[in-house]
Amino acid sequence: MIKRREFLRRAAATAGFALACKSSPVAWAQSDSDARIDVLLDEPLGPISPNIYGHFTENLSGVIYDGIWVGENSKVPNVNGIRKELIDQMRKIKPAIVRFPGGCFADSYDWRDGIGPVDKRPRRTNFWSFGDPPPAPVTHRYDPNRFGTNEFVQFCQLIGGQPYLAANLRSLPAEQFYRWVEYCNSPAGTTTLADERAAAGCKDPFNVRYWGVGNESWGCGGNFTAQEYAVEYRRFTTWVPGYSNELSFIASGPDGDSREWTRGFFEEIARKGKEQIRGIYGWALHHYAWNLSRGKTQDWNAGKGDALKFDPVDWYEVLREGDRMESMINAHWQIMGETDTDHHVKLVVDEWGPWYRPGSELTPGDQIEQLPTLRDAVFSGMTLDTFNRHPEKIGIACCAQLINCLNSLYLAHEDKFCVTPVGHVFQMYASHQAAQSVRAEFSAPSIHYDRDGKPASFWGLKGSASLLEKNLVLTAVNPDVSHELEARIMIRGAQAKSGQATVLTASNIHAHNTFAQREAVVPRTEKLEARGPNLNFRFPAASVVKLEVQLA
Ligand code: AHR
Repeated sequence: MIKRREFLRRAAATAGFALACKSSPVAWAQSDSDARIDVLLDEPLGPISPNIYGHFTENLSGVIYDGIWVGENSKVPNVNGIRKELIDQMRKIKPAIVRFPGGCFADSYDWRDGIGPVDKRPRRTNFWSFGDPPPAPVTHRYDPNRFGTNEFVQFCQLIGGQPYLAANLRSLPAEQFYRWVEYCNSPAGTTTLADERAAAGCKDPFNVRYWGVGNESWGCGGNFTAQEYAVEYRRFTTWVPGYSNELSFIASGPDGDSREWTRGFFEEIARKGKEQIRGIYGWALHHYAWNLSRGKTQDWNAGKGDALKFDPVDWYEVLREGDRMESMINAHWQIMGETDTDHHVKLVVDEWGPWYRPGSELTPGDQIEQLPTLRDAVFSGMTLDTFNRHPEKIGIACCAQLINCLNSLYLAHEDKFCVTPVGHVFQMYASHQAAQSVRAEFSAPSIHYDRDGKPASFWGLKGSASLLEKNLVLTAVNPDVSHELEARIMIRGAQAKSGQATVLTASNIHAHNTFAQREAVVPRTEKLEARGPNLNFRFPAASVVKLEVQLA
């Protein structure tokens, strides 16, 4: 790979010169690019599943109550109780899939509590109640079950996405899993549960395809060993009636990067016969960038950094931690391939994002809510680009979490609402959905910085490219906190006709949006000088960039 990249760089340096001279000699002669990007249109990597641009909504603190659900009688504009501004904003980002109800919450949840007449639904202690003392509203600690399966599915329908439900494997029997599937998917009039669904106004089946089978089953999801979990997984998923719907089961993946868990699970599943692997659609991978201690501690609390108060070294540190995503994808994919030799099972990165220490929440009392800054926009662009570069491996990915939580796209409280820089990145990157990912080789000088008295470096420019008919979309991040980077972009195999550039950046790396200042960080779109096979672009310091090029 390294050899190939080096070869490409050198070959392109010569060939590109000749090509560029033919098409735009002046532009090339004047250009003294620091970096180059070769977009190789004839090297398709696979279609980018829209499900890579998925979301995660756990019944945790302000995510559901106050975030998504405001209630039908609220003064906050709503559609059947669901926050209208959230629906309107989400429609812009084409949200293909949303995961619910957890997370750790899922393995404590009885789906039956959330269906039926609303005045009969029980109140239950929320899994997360320990972390939500007042002033958090009582609904954060004691779940009123006002938002259940029907409301969640309606939310998905309103935003144009599909539901991905996570089943309780720790504290409910497998029979309850089958019943939940039956409630959601059995045709109208066929079962008692279909009648219950119809009585709630939902005659037609929900046809839920994606089902998580437990969550973090090595920890909050049951404290299993990989082998024990594999046995449970087989038991839960064997002979679940699908009705007319294909069911795609997602198994609970490793604790962080634990290779033993992945290997142990797949070996145990295959011990019963290799064909058992066919019963798995996806392998869940969670990656939070939380340890900003630069190797000083592994303590979950002490290792975290601040969401708002940070130095450039912290900026690079969180990106380094987040950038481990690519090696995790490759490593677990390879291990899965030891038993799943034809790679039937896809990776489902259904929780990802940075995780800072408490203190930056816009709504006091919202547990693990944090205020995303420009740093988190760059982090998110980097992560989405990573997924785009591995379209054959990634089936689903869900950013953790949609609203009022970790790497949230939106923050809301009562009638206040704002789109975070992360939300803007999702809107920018939506153009990649369902396009063909094509290989793009990035070559840029590394960034050098001081890491506790020792020299450290981070890559200078990375991104991804995709093609849909004649539209080429190139996204990239410049992670350098203080230097812009000029890049020569060589489109191999086509000529540019026109283009536009969308840039998300700010003069302050701590910039963020709040309820009072909703537009401190917003993307700007400008026309791009794009004619012929090559173009130049200056990637501003600390930026996320999307170039859209119409090909001749
Ligand atoms: O996203 C918050 C929590 O992080 C989820 O509930 C759990 O799956 C993970 O550990």
